[in-house]
Amino acid sequence: MRVLLIGGGGREHALALGLVADPSVEALFAVPGNPGVGEVAVLRDVVPTDPAAVAALAVECGADLVVVGPEAPLVAGVADAVRAKGIPAFGPSAAAARLEGSKAFAKDVMTAAGVPTARAYSCADAESVGRALDDFGAPYVVKNDCLAAGKGVVVTEDRRVAEEHARACGQVVIEEYLAGPEVSLFVVTDGETAVPLLPAQDFKRVGDDDTGPNTGGMGAYAPLPWAPPGLVDEVMRDIVHPTLAELRRRGTPFAGLLYVGLAITAAGPRVIEFNARFGDPETQVVLALLETPLAGLLHAAATGELAAHPPLRWREGAAVTVVVAAEGYPAKPRTGDVILGAEVSGVIHAGTRRAADGALLSAGGRVLCGTAIGSDLAAARDAAYELVRGVELAGSHHRTDIAAAAVDGRITLPG
Ligand code: AMP
Ligand code: GLY
Repeated sequence: MRVLLIGGGGREHALALGLVADPSVEALFAVPGNPGVGEVAVLRDVVPTDPAAVAALAVECGADLVVVGPEAPLVAGVADAVRAKGIPAFGPSAAAARLEGSKAFAKDVMTAAGVPTARAYSCADAESVGRALDDFGAPYVVKNDCLAAGKGVVVTEDRRVAEEHARACGQVVIEEYLAGPEVSLFVVTDGETAVPLLPAQDFKRVGDDDTGPNTGGMGAYAPLPWAPPGLVDEVMRDIVHPTLAELRRRGTPFAGLLYVGLAITAAGPRVIEFNARFGDPETQVVLALLETPLAGLLHAAATGELAAHPPLRWREGAAVTVVVAAEGYPAKPRTGDVILGAEVSGVIHAGTRRAADGALLSAGGRVLCGTAIGSDLAAARDAAYELVRGVELAGSHHRTDIAAAAVDGRITLPG
């Protein structure tokens, strides 16, 4: 099959590697891609958030499947426009992608579906913000209620910081703090049938020991040796199926990748957020372990045939990815620095670009990630850090504790 991939981050490089490893894929095109994606795909130059332009390109490429990576094209309606041309698209409609695009919409769906999540208030003025902060107490969780690519959330003990974030955003969701380790569970769905991938853990804060501001994600590992047995079944039963049923009931079925961000609290798993797409950098580790051909799986979801798809097969062992970020990330990343040592298998490109002379330059906050598999988590972790040590980028930083607590058996479940 011929596949068109939309997006140009680390997630898309991982998706591209998975897609070309599928023997049924005869050609891969990507928009806009990045130099890593460009190693395995033909890069094309259209605006990824322009539904008409992407749909026209899909026709021109003779695509049998369009895979949409990031949220912005989904919210813009790219999957709808592709499907309107009769081409299968992996990714939800704009209407269903509101599950990620609006925190208030997601809360409304969860309430209607009886899905366990943090109690929350939608607030638009200082008075209601004050009342909500009083009600929940510290630590305060204040979320920008517009699409913020995982960066619009402030979790703080400092009341003034919480109030300032609320003021800067205008419309916010303020919610109860959920205590417990976090899990990212990806679910491939055609709207009806739902297939969970391996659970992963992301590291959202910029600094070691979960210090500093939230980021898009500084590293990840899978699977989770500490996860309670039956966790995935419980999440599918209590969270995923009720959510999909509620979206069907509303006439906006969700087909694509449902990303369930969870906290494993003393009272059980609670939804922190839904995303309408693969997570970044968790995709890098989950797909590194997936043995089942990726294009076939995504095509089955895009065509409503997931019920007939064979069970997924996974590699033994574990995978770890460590993000190398630009100086100043997340506040004000510096770009345009030369990157050396990145042309190695296992280095996944995120914010990179090629200079006219062929040199590889940084072009975003999260520049690349070292992704490795190993016979166990400790081996995978060592191999991922080995990759990171081989990369030279002036001013760059990375966390040194990705997967460390899990390797050492230091993750405990509350209650
Ligand atoms: P979000 O964009 O909603 O995933 O939030 C980003 C990060 O903020 C999450 O991965 C959590 O680490 C943290 N966070 C968000 N909501 C909560 C909550 N209710 N309780 C505790 N931490 C949260
Ligand atoms: N890694 C978190 C996200 O993709 O939103």
